[in-house]
Amino acid sequence: MRKIALLTSGGDAPGMNACIRAIVLTSLRYGLQVYGYRHGFNGLLEQEYLKLRSTNITNIIQRGGTILNSARCLSFKADDAAKMAAKNLDALGIEALIVIGGDGSFRGAKHLSQHWSGQVIGIPGTIDNDVNGTDATIGYYTAIETALDSIDKVRDTADAFERIFLIEVMGRHAGFIGLNAAIASAADHILLPELSRSCEHELENLIDHIEAVKKRRGNSSYIVVVTENLWPQGITNLAEVLTEKTQIDCRPVILGYIQRGGSPVSQDRVLATKLGAFAVEMALEGKTGVMVGEINQQLVCHDLATSWQQNKTLDPYLVKIQQDLFDILKRP
Ligand code: F6P
Repeated sequence: MRKIALLTSGGDAPGMNACIRAIVLTSLRYGLQVYGYRHGFNGLLEQEYLKLRSTNITNIIQRGGTILNSARCLSFKADDAAKMAAKNLDALGIEALIVIGGDGSFRGAKHLSQHWSGQVIGIPGTIDNDVNGTDATIGYYTAIETALDSIDKVRDTADAFERIFLIEVMGRHAGFIGLNAAIASAADHILLPELSRSCEHELENLIDHIEAVKKRRGNSSYIVVVTENLWPQGITNLAEVLTEKTQIDCRPVILGYIQRGGSPVSQDRVLATKLGAFAVEMALEGKTGVMVGEINQQLVCHDLATSWQQNKTLDPYLVKIQQDLFDILKRP
């Protein structure tokens, strides 16, 4: 192998730059030329790339975002798009392509592999951690830290005013950030997609809990961590409903995109470095149509479809203790 390429796709995640750095350095170590495609799969269609040298990756390990830019490329679902990408990769003499992104990006990589004879390898990078086949995805740990820092700050004002706060975290349809940020911040309640039965049930449960806690603690702050997309009318509406039903002031805080930014924490930098180096080594071993990951500190390589064929589950022990803690909070 002489030429390898990479791209970052979908929601950017802190640690993607650390991963790019590891891929470039490992490739150079093995004497490969490295090309970085810009703007995700769009770069493959537009033949928008740059040759990456060690100078391109100096001082990027600590930076959030991605030096290659990212994008969601819906048009890549079409066969013609994958064929065009294959033609462009062949024109440049690329033999292996590494895609850093979430399961949507891995679907794009799989689609490309059906039309291209080169090797395709996925590296899980998304704050949501919703990629099956790896314990953690690049960016996830930083997102938890960012959410936690914000929740701690909100708690100060919540305490001062003895208010209820609803804090919406990202995760698309997965509760990994929510559960971990809630545990670490000692939130009083969580609303997660994996644990939610119906909106009516969750609302009733929440109101009961708030009232029981109030009986026990008197007036106090009360923090609820809510995963995005969970309450159909949005958390501003949920805050209004709660204010009316409990007669306690309730305020919404949507953390949003701040969770995608910032300097990656060490766990994300280390994970990104390991997975980036390993992906290049897997390419050199001739692997294709696979994603790399880490499970119980062991580097692993699975079929790309592993990432979406089974839903990744929350840590059941963490769920259990969180629920036990909620129960204890409301006991007389
Ligand atoms: O996948 C990462 C993520 O930040 C999700 O948590 C969120 O739902 C989504 O991306 C937002 O996507 P976009 O950047 O397209 O608005």
